[in-house]
Amino acid sequence: MPGTQASESFRVNGGARLVGEVHVTGAKNSALKLMAATLLAEGTSTILNVPDIADVDIMAELLTRLGCVVNFDRSQQTVTIAVPAEPGSRADYDLVRKMRASINVLGPLVTRLGHAEVALPGGDAIGSRGLDFHIKGLKELGAEAHSEHGYVIATAPDGLHGASISLDFPSVGATENLMTAAVLAKGMTVIDNAAREPDVVDLGEFLVAMGAVISGLGTSTIIITGVDKLHPATHATLCDRIVAGTWAFAAAITQGDLTIHGARAEHMEIPLDKLVSAGAVVTTTPDGIRVRMDHRPNSVDVATLPYPGFPTDLQPLIILLNAVAEGRSIVTENVFEGRFMFVNELIRLGAHIQVDGHHAAITGVERLSGAPVVATDIRAGAGLVLAGLVSEGVTTVEDGYHIDRGYPGFAQALRSLGAEVTRI
Ligand code: UD1
Repeated sequence: MPGTQASESFRVNGGARLVGEVHVTGAKNSALKLMAATLLAEGTSTILNVPDIADVDIMAELLTRLGCVVNFDRSQQTVTIAVPAEPGSRADYDLVRKMRASINVLGPLVTRLGHAEVALPGGDAIGSRGLDFHIKGLKELGAEAHSEHGYVIATAPDGLHGASISLDFPSVGATENLMTAAVLAKGMTVIDNAAREPDVVDLGEFLVAMGAVISGLGTSTIIITGVDKLHPATHATLCDRIVAGTWAFAAAITQGDLTIHGARAEHMEIPLDKLVSAGAVVTTTPDGIRVRMDHRPNSVDVATLPYPGFPTDLQPLIILLNAVAEGRSIVTENVFEGRFMFVNELIRLGAHIQVDGHHAAITGVERLSGAPVVATDIRAGAGLVLAGLVSEGVTTVEDGYHIDRGYPGFAQALRSLGAEVTRI
C-alpha cells in the first residue's frame, strides 16, 4: 500500500516561491463514498478519476472483505468494483479505524441486506466525531440501530421505510449515509438541514445514475423516493476542491503564481474571496483558476462553516496565510472543535497565535523559522509542508503518511513548482 510508512517525513528547505502549473485529481471525499455506494447494486460499477491515495486502497480492501472484486488501475485512475448478490455485512475495526469514510458502507449495507455491523471509525484526530445523527436517522427510517462493543449494529429485516428526517447539523457523513439508505427504502424520505457539499451532490448524481430517484441535491432539503432495485453504473469523481484550495493558498502564502487545472471556482467561492481580500489576483482559466500574489498577504478574518461557507478542511491553510500576513486576524472554527492542534506546530515554527476556545487570534510575522514538526491530520500536514516553504532554514514534517492520504505526489508536485522538498 503506498504512502503508509509512518516513519516517513517531508524535508522542506525554506524560501521557495511556487510558480507553475498543477493538476487537481478526483476528490478523496467523493471517490471513497462513490466506492462504498457501489454496494447498493449487484454487478460491476466503474468509478473514474480516482486519486492514487492510501485511503482508496483501504476502501478497496474493505469492499474486498465484503466479497467484492475490486480492481484499481492506477494509470487510468479507474476503479472497477464487482459487487456480489450477497455481500458480507460486517466491516472490521482494523480497517475502519484507519479511515472515517468507512462508515459510508453502513447505509448501503443495512438498506440492501437488512443487517450491518460497522466498527466505530477513527480517521483524523480533529475533534469528537459522533455518529448520533447517522444512528438517529437510520432509526427514523425503520432500522433498529445502536452501538455496542465498538460497533454500530443496524438491522432492518423487513427493509427500511421513508421518513422525514431533520439533522441537527448539516453533517456530510450523516447526509450521505441516510441518502444511500433511503434510495432503497419503501416510500419517500425528506432530509432537512442536509449537507450541501459538492461531494454530497456527486454521490447523489451517482445514485441517480444507478436508478435512484433524488431531488434537491445541493440544497438543504433532499427528497428521495425509494426504488426496489438499483443497477451498476459508471461515474467520474468530482475534482478535489480542497486540494485545489490548498494550491490556491500555497500560491498566496509563498507569493507565487499557480495555474490550477481542474479547480472549479464555483465550488470555492468563499475561499477565493478570502484570497482576494488577502491581496491575491484570482482569475479563471479555461479549465481551472490562476492565483497570483505579488506581495506579503494582508490578514483576513474567517469563520469555518458547512458548505458553501469557508471549509474547515482549508482552515489550517488560512491560519498559515495569516501567520505570515501583514496585520492581525481571528480564525473561528465552527465545525470540528479539536482542529487547532495544527496551531501548536505552527507556533513551533515561530508563528504568533493565541487560541481561546474555538477562536485563534493571529499576529502575522514576516517569516517563520524552520524546525521539526508533526503532521496531525491530512490538511494540517499539507499546511506544515507549505509553512516550511515560508520558514528560514529546514523544516521536517514527521508522520508524512497523513499527507499521502489526501495529496498524491505532493513532494514531487512541489518540486516541479520550484520548491526543495524531499521525502526522508
Ligand atoms: C467530512 C469530511 C471532512 C470534512 C467534514 C466537514 C469525509 C471523509 N470527511 O467529515 O474532511 O472536514 O466532512 O466538511 O468526507 N457530528 C455529530 N454527529 C454525527 C455526525 C457529525 O455530532 O452523527 C458532528 C461532527 O462531530 C462535526 C460536525 O458534525 O463536529 C460535522 O461533521 P460531518 O459533516 O459529519 O463530517 P464528516 O462527514 O465526518
